[in-house]
Amino acid sequence: MKPDFSTEGLDRVRSLFFGSILCIVLLCCSAESGSLLIGTAINRQVLTDTSYQRLVTGFSNIVTPAYDLKFKHIQKIRGVFDFTHADKVVAYARDNHMAIRGHTLIWHGALPDWVVALPVHADTMRRVMFEHIEGVVSHYRGNVYCWDVVNEAFDTEGNLNVKNPYFRAMGKSYIEYAFRIADQFDSETKLFYNDYGPYGITKKSDAVYATICELLDKGVRIDGIGFQMHLRIDENREMEKFTDIARNFKRFAMLGLEIHITEADVSISKPVTPEKRKLQIRAYQEMMRLFLSIPACKAFVTWGLTDKYAWFPESRKNYAEPSLFDSLYKPKPVYDSVMSVIEQFKKPPVIENMSIRGKQIAFIMRTLLYESGYAIHMAEREKGISVSDVVWSDTILIEAPRNGVYEVCIWPIAYTGSFLGVPVTYTVQVKEGN
Ligand code: XIL
Repeated sequence: MKPDFSTEGLDRVRSLFFGSILCIVLLCCSAESGSLLIGTAINRQVLTDTSYQRLVTGFSNIVTPAYDLKFKHIQKIRGVFDFTHADKVVAYARDNHMAIRGHTLIWHGALPDWVVALPVHADTMRRVMFEHIEGVVSHYRGNVYCWDVVNEAFDTEGNLNVKNPYFRAMGKSYIEYAFRIADQFDSETKLFYNDYGPYGITKKSDAVYATICELLDKGVRIDGIGFQMHLRIDENREMEKFTDIARNFKRFAMLGLEIHITEADVSISKPVTPEKRKLQIRAYQEMMRLFLSIPACKAFVTWGLTDKYAWFPESRKNYAEPSLFDSLYKPKPVYDSVMSVIEQFKKPPVIENMSIRGKQIAFIMRTLLYESGYAIHMAEREKGISVSDVVWSDTILIEAPRNGVYEVCIWPIAYTGSFLGVPVTYTVQVKEGN
């Protein structure tokens, strides 16, 4: 049951319009096309558990090895690079035509004891970073889609994480250094900064944003940003404010960065209730909407696919059921709900209500996407007159130049002006005195 992630259908619809008068307005915009990258983090069990293998390959066109590419698994002993497991996982992904997110080069977690025991000394740490990045990036050159070069540099308040031994030794400069070295050893693979929340416009995202702007200004190559999005449902937590998250994504997109949702999961606090499951469905759906709304969002990766191999750190030991599939690998209702968002996105937008007063026509639209709007084109074929407009709200008000029968075409667009789906068409008769 491989979901159809291609956006080819959208292209086809677009080309049909090229012959039509309606396309004049639409030609002003550029359509995004191609396949969405959707997938999951994978555990090593993917090499032995064939049912899990089938689940992963059936769902994903991109995967993230959850731990095999991390420092302590590759360089347990200084200078001895052991790629045995990582190579197997990477080969599995490649053999199954899935892209790979390389996760992660420089992080305070998953460090071998020898790094933790090093003296707090800038030159020493710089050397460690250089050797590790050189070893890993060179080994996988040409085989991974991107690298999370630096992971979780900031805490939730937007301060640089003091638990980070690179930061303790080198100060903030370690971030720049990591990107420069990664670029030196692989100038082709995309380089990402990856971090956890809060995901709206907050002290933390401001700090990440300022740092990335500063580095880009200095000419450091950063191609993308990853938002982890480990969400939680419980009695005392508010639902994430997705409109605010969309605004935050947009400002990073405006820097020219590619955006990935890198570690999506939604754990439910115990006891799991039907109400909490509904909230989980909403959270997953909103994430998917967010992903589909922002053209710079290229990959949506869940942190695990089945509850069987779900990740529960200490802070989440009272949580359950974070994945789209249950522990017997059956799709849960939340899976169908997420897929239905993709399907809705491929259908024309819904007109909730249409009314005419005089020559004024009003459409109330049901908005599916964040930070988006509509391009409207209204044409009277016989007399060859038309009007067009772009609006950034759910209410479209448009005035017909004169009486007649009009064909109205309403097309959802992203804030960039690019098309986000297929249009809805509507025929309306305007007679003054309506
Ligand atoms: C987690 C893995 O899932 C675990 O298997 C491992 O024991 C610890 O790390 N943010 C990240 C990921 O960037 O690398 C973490 O992965 C989860 C939180």
